[in-house]
Amino acid sequence: MCGIVGILGSKPVAIDLIDALRRLEYRGYDSAGVATVENGHLERRRAEGKLRNLETRLSKEPLEGHTGIGHTRWATHGKPIERNAHPHMSDKVSVVHNGIIENYRDLKAELTAKGHTFASDTDTEAVVHLITDAMQHGCTPVEAVRRSLDRLAGAFALAIIFAGHDDLMIAARQGSPLAIGHGDGEMYLGSDAIALAPFTDRITYLDEGDWAVIKRRSLEIYDRSGKRVERPIVKSAASALLVDKGNHRHFMAKEIHEQPEVISHTLSNYLDMGEGRVNFPDLGVDLSQILRVSISACGTAYYAGLVGKYWIERYARIPVEIDVASEFRYREAPMSPGGLAVFVSQSGETADTLATLRYAKEHGQRIASIVNVRTSTIARESHAVLPILAGPEIGVASTKAFTCQLAVLACLAIALGRARGHIDTAKERELVQALVEVPRHISAMLRDEDKYVDLAHTLSKASDVIYLGRGINYPIALEGALKLKEISYIHAEGYAAGELKHGPIALIDEKVPVVVVTPADELFDKTISNMQEVAARGGQIVMISNADADHAGCKLAAYIPVPDAHPFTNPLIYAVPVQLMAYHTAVQMGTDVDQPRNLAKSVTVE
Ligand code: AGP
Repeated sequence: MCGIVGILGSKPVAIDLIDALRRLEYRGYDSAGVATVENGHLERRRAEGKLRNLETRLSKEPLEGHTGIGHTRWATHGKPIERNAHPHMSDKVSVVHNGIIENYRDLKAELTAKGHTFASDTDTEAVVHLITDAMQHGCTPVEAVRRSLDRLAGAFALAIIFAGHDDLMIAARQGSPLAIGHGDGEMYLGSDAIALAPFTDRITYLDEGDWAVIKRRSLEIYDRSGKRVERPIVKSAASALLVDKGNHRHFMAKEIHEQPEVISHTLSNYLDMGEGRVNFPDLGVDLSQILRVSISACGTAYYAGLVGKYWIERYARIPVEIDVASEFRYREAPMSPGGLAVFVSQSGETADTLATLRYAKEHGQRIASIVNVRTSTIARESHAVLPILAGPEIGVASTKAFTCQLAVLACLAIALGRARGHIDTAKERELVQALVEVPRHISAMLRDEDKYVDLAHTLSKASDVIYLGRGINYPIALEGALKLKEISYIHAEGYAAGELKHGPIALIDEKVPVVVVTPADELFDKTISNMQEVAARGGQIVMISNADADHAGCKLAAYIPVPDAHPFTNPLIYAVPVQLMAYHTAVQMGTDVDQPRNLAKSVTVE
């Protein structure tokens, strides 16, 4: 999703703005731009596509201003063309924006009637003209922004600079995060602290509804009501993090390979490995009294939640309701007070998940969030935060965050099961030991990647791929299909293996690869029967299993062996082959693996 940066510097800032934008590339974008205050007037450079296009433009037409803003745009209103790229500007003001101004049509009609001319198809430009209009009527920049903010509906983050004001930037946050960085006689602004890491680790996060008047040597923050407020300066860990690919060709490959290490790290936070016990943080409720759990999330995080449902229902015997957040938020689900509501989100900023969280809070639920970004809005609005500790995930396609989310959910299920008396000490030790072995099993699979390169030849020729799984491995089939379509653009769908003959089997012919996620567990024979139904119709079967290939009882197009593991931990282990399949297929097809088309890493609009 769009990325925002801003710098009040002591030298020309255009190059540093690009550097900061590069660190936001992982969010996904389709055009970019910067604007600076040049000898009192505003100048901008914009370009479609990647940041290198903007750099080329800047090398031909440099900007020298010491105050500037920059933006990577993920198109919502208007095509991804230069005319719609940010910054948008008038002769008085230049604006970058992340989010959606929901009432922009009304504002545009009003401002057009007053004589303002719009040059783009974006919602953002309404903000430019609103502020300009106020300034034309004699308002100072600060007063103009204050009045304009009162007129805006929707979720947004804004950064604004002004002609004739070299020492002024105004930022506003309503629904999309913003971090202000404190330098030495310089100030910075970014959609997150990662963008600001090369410049400073001293960060102030704006709260929901805050807006800030930023100068090189001062910072004033006001809340929604216009009251001056203080927000702390915190030391950001992002500075220490080098966002690079190491020896890998893509961030996604690096993140897949990091899984044994990061899962160990996550587990060590939630387990007492010596005692064989879960050491779960206090959620502020008596776990033995929880009668109902609801889980809400989007995309991959939702599939993690779906695995969580199977775990919690089976091991803690607590009914779990789960829904994608975009549905949950509007279906007015009855929630009797006292339930535990769990929200899963890598970024912690997903608009739909956040809206569901607020709904659940209003309905008396205890809110626990499973997030990667601890400073995120979802984390901050939760009663209890369960960090997944995966480190920054840069590839748009989620990999290590998914398995770390699973690790936390597995620990939660054990903690609930123990509290409710369904897991005794011996069973807890058995399940904890199973979790401890997961990183070793994943490492073993990652040592043997060649077979995925061969398999990618088959998958890259397909126009449709079907994934099948049963029980707790059904969400892995869904996740496998999502991974493949996200980064290779091949149409893929996941189905519960038992559902096959209720419709999807009509799709099977000899051109369709069918990936079957089938550990040798209690449902193995049933899934094998479904696999044979596919074979009978000529489908090309790819079997992922710890059972030998000859158990298939039919011809296989490919066989991916998986280490023997406790059935409890199979979702964590079987996630890895489906990630590798998608990755190698995308590499073979030459797509933009880390920043696939149309996708954003952090989805801050609904
Ligand atoms: C995963 O590969 C996705 N790109 C996407 O489905 C993602 O999981 C979803 O947008 C939710 O994001 P979140 O975890 O940051 O809330």
